[in-house]
Amino acid sequence: MTKPLSKAVERMLRVDQAGEYGAVRIYAGQMAVMGDRGPHAGRIAHMLEQEVAHRTWFDGFLRERGARPTLLQPLWHVAGFALGAATALIGPEAAMACTAAIETEIDLHYTRQLDELGQDEPEIAEKIARARDEEREHRDTAFEQGAEKAPAYPLLSGAIRLGCKVAIALTERI
Ligand SMILES: [Fe+2]
Ligand SMILES: [Fe+2]
Repeated sequence: MTKPLSKAVERMLRVDQAGEYGAVRIYAGQMAVMGDRGPHAGRIAHMLEQEVAHRTWFDGFLRERGARPTLLQPLWHVAGFALGAATALIGPEAAMACTAAIETEIDLHYTRQLDELGQDEPEIAEKIARARDEEREHRDTAFEQGAEKAPAYPLLSGAIRLGCKVAIALTERI
């Protein structure tokens, strides 16, 4: 018998599942535009694979613990894909700037959650820590691949980071 979820942990799982769901959609949008020809196609395909694994972990936790996903999932389905496609249309560096911005926020987000969890829910904490480490790799890859050379980088990056914060705040509530 698994122990009942606290409201705080339920909110965490909901926002994390939504974030990983959105991440899969972002990379899917980028791949749809760039196909397998873009300069970063191989790297993006690898990140997409890791995002699918992350989403599967949180899908599993929600199911096992009888919690529902966010009601905003249909929105993240469309918005994630649109963000991925739009940045890829600007160019490969903008696609990398998108990853760098999102993963910078997600690293902060997961780190905060791990602090909050402490010794509670070790199984969930272990997966959050693994996801966070891989998001950090995605962020570093994106910077190595020229994220900062994207057109209007500070503006683009700032807008995406803000969007990411808004998405987290909304999903925690809805
Ligand atoms: Fe992820
Ligand atoms: Fe990621």
